[in-house]
Amino acid sequence: MSKRNLSFVCQNCGAAFSRWQGKCEACGEWNTLSEEGGDRPAGLGRKPGRGRLFALEALAGEAHDAARLPCGIGELDRVTGGGFVRGSVLLVGGDPGIGKSTLLIQAAAAMARAGHRTVYISGEEAVAQVRLRAERLGLRDCNVELAAETAVEDIIATLSDGTTPRLVVIDSIQTMWTDMVEWAPGTVTQVRGSAQALIRFAKKSGAAVILVGHVTKDGQIAGPRVVEHMVDAVLAFEGEGSHQFRILRAVKNRFGPTEIGVFEMTGAGLREVPNPSELFLSERDLGQPGTAVFAGIEGTRPLLVEIQALVAPTSLGTPRRAVVGWDPNRLSMVLAVLEAHCGVRLGGHDVYLNVAGGMRIQEPAGDLAAAAALVSSLANAPLPSDAVYFGEVSLSGAVRPVAQAASRLKEAAKLGFKGAIVPEAARGERSEPGLTINEIGSLASLVADIAAGGKARIAAKTRGQYG
Ligand code: TYD
Ligand code: MG
Repeated sequence: MSKRNLSFVCQNCGAAFSRWQGKCEACGEWNTLSEEGGDRPAGLGRKPGRGRLFALEALAGEAHDAARLPCGIGELDRVTGGGFVRGSVLLVGGDPGIGKSTLLIQAAAAMARAGHRTVYISGEEAVAQVRLRAERLGLRDCNVELAAETAVEDIIATLSDGTTPRLVVIDSIQTMWTDMVEWAPGTVTQVRGSAQALIRFAKKSGAAVILVGHVTKDGQIAGPRVVEHMVDAVLAFEGEGSHQFRILRAVKNRFGPTEIGVFEMTGAGLREVPNPSELFLSERDLGQPGTAVFAGIEGTRPLLVEIQALVAPTSLGTPRRAVVGWDPNRLSMVLAVLEAHCGVRLGGHDVYLNVAGGMRIQEPAGDLAAAAALVSSLANAPLPSDAVYFGEVSLSGAVRPVAQAASRLKEAAKLGFKGAIVPEAARGERSEPGLTINEIGSLASLVADIAAGGKARIAAKTRGQYG
């Protein structure tokens, strides 16, 4: 009898090694390896047989749209790309307490109301707790079938009995375990095994399955990053704990564009926010030095957000750079460009940058707004409170055009903004009634504009800051 095939699996990325080591060579994390039974390669020792022949098809063949089941919660349907796809598996990740269970019990209730058989399996809470939450949300009368179970084989057997449910929620995948692997629930091998079994069930039965996954501090879906590759769509539920806004972001979607949906956590559960731009702009901060409005795009939807910067003389040897909601590397880059090409010296200043409302900006189009906020704070010169900014800053100091300028401008005009500071366009497609468009070609000219605006104050305060 051959010795069992032991291996050490990284709990962060799922890479397997034959011996223990302190650092995972695959993802670079420390102390994440633990001993688990590696998947025994199936058919080891068997002679390779002749493969079965199958027919190849033309790309031009007939395509049929995925059958979708909209749940009726508009923001959720938008993120899934128009509804849950039958036979698909969706992973919803997020920090503990962010509202995953709340969102999914609301979705389950909405599906049940629409007359679909819906099953909610909780591995974390007792049935009574789930009921209590549903009662608080006013969903007590909905025909959602509940169970507190963690054994995947039992769950699949139960679900396969009788009419196939249209929607199955598994809360959470980390609590599930399968007989096929012997390791403890929560380990990568268990999570992967359980997810595989549930995915197989979804494909076979045509039910849409939603898996809930916990997220680690650094934003990865804990342990089972492997699961992200196996499922059809990955939705990240984000938000700053102290804000009531929640953003459901499609990180991956095999059936649609990667959109975002915006919710507000209220005493009666999650409420849709159909016009999020209004939410991310605070009336009080606009017109203050260091505040710029960025006209962004999330998925296909334009979204105005406020970027706040604070630049203050440092009392430390190494000045601080702190960012919330934006990429620290891009901040370093923008600061370097300001320094190298615009003569703005920030080496003796602490720099703080914050995206208001708990939003996270990922597109490079935010560079210009961030730079404007930084310079505005340094010069103590407020930016016009009725103007938006967008544009990518290149290392040479040029401001480069970005995609979907027209819909950014349209959103700004819709919300009553009067001006837009934008990159010079290659083509003259820029016009929006009611909006004065100010095209700039380089970051240096933006700095000059802001400095000129706040000249009176600058003269006294920051003499010598501008080269
Ligand atoms: P929950 O859905 O249990 O989070 P998760 O499943 O992601 O861990 O949500 C928990 C938080 O949501 C909790 O701190 C209380 C808050 N909450 C409300 O503010 N209003 C509500 O109606 C509900 C049900 C929860
Ligand atoms: Mg939960």
